[in-house]
Amino acid sequence: MPSFIEAAQSQVGRKILTGITGFLLLFFIIFHLAGNLAIFGDEHDMNRYSAFLHDMGGLLWLARIGLIVAFGLHAWIGISIWLKKRKARSQAYNVYSSKGGASKQGLSSRSMALTGIILLIFLVFHINTFALGDTETVIVDGREMEDLRSLVIETFMNPLYAFGYTFVMILLGAHLGHGIWSAFTSLTMKSKQLSAAIYSVGVVLAFLIAIGFLFIPLYIYFTGGCGELLGGCT
Ligand code: HEM
Repeated sequence: MPSFIEAAQSQVGRKILTGITGFLLLFFIIFHLAGNLAIFGDEHDMNRYSAFLHDMGGLLWLARIGLIVAFGLHAWIGISIWLKKRKARSQAYNVYSSKGGASKQGLSSRSMALTGIILLIFLVFHINTFALGDTETVIVDGREMEDLRSLVIETFMNPLYAFGYTFVMILLGAHLGHGIWSAFTSLTMKSKQLSAAIYSVGVVLAFLIAIGFLFIPLYIYFTGGCGELLGGCT
């Protein structure tokens, strides 16, 4: 049996690892979206949800470490696959340069690398804004909680954040639209018919995830944080 390092160095092993880590990240993203949509629930549902996660203590840290490893591996292997393809392409151009214009074959992997890198940069800003952001505390159900909900609403009243997030969520949708199919095909035997069906399911899922995420900043911004879904303003 090949070691982890050997598997990570082989072409097939890399594709499988990007697929597995991609699925783990997809589960996190769906879970995170569900938690974020709690902002449209009761006034303190989002704060309760965050307090529930923080109460998990050691388990939360285990999940965070898993997430960091998954993000790290996914980005590292994804970028190395893209660099390898780029190198192979430029060698092919040298040999077949007389055959005409630039190949469109690498377009999807090129955009995956680009959207992936932008998402990685976004994550650093995002964690700094929300996970490490300055929050007030509120008393909910007789206990003190961080008021993350107010932080999210205040943040998205700023057009730079509202539209910046919207742009990045569109890129997230584009990344997932190709990525879900790619992960499936890396991890399963693919027939042509199944591949087309999985592609459609992946695109629909990616679209719903992107819409779910970008609805939050846009709704907050355009209703001035006082929309009906947020309970209005008193
Ligand atoms: C409108 C979109 C989003 C909103 C409103 C949002 C909101 C939040 C909030 C409030 C937190 C802090 C949670 C807490 O401390 O309990 C957080 C953390 C985080 N978010 Fe997001 N998020 C959004 C999109 C995303 C996306 C697209 C990703 C991944 C690609 C992501 C990844 C993370 C990560 C990794 C953390 C740190 C989790 C932790 O420390 O436990 N977020 N987000």
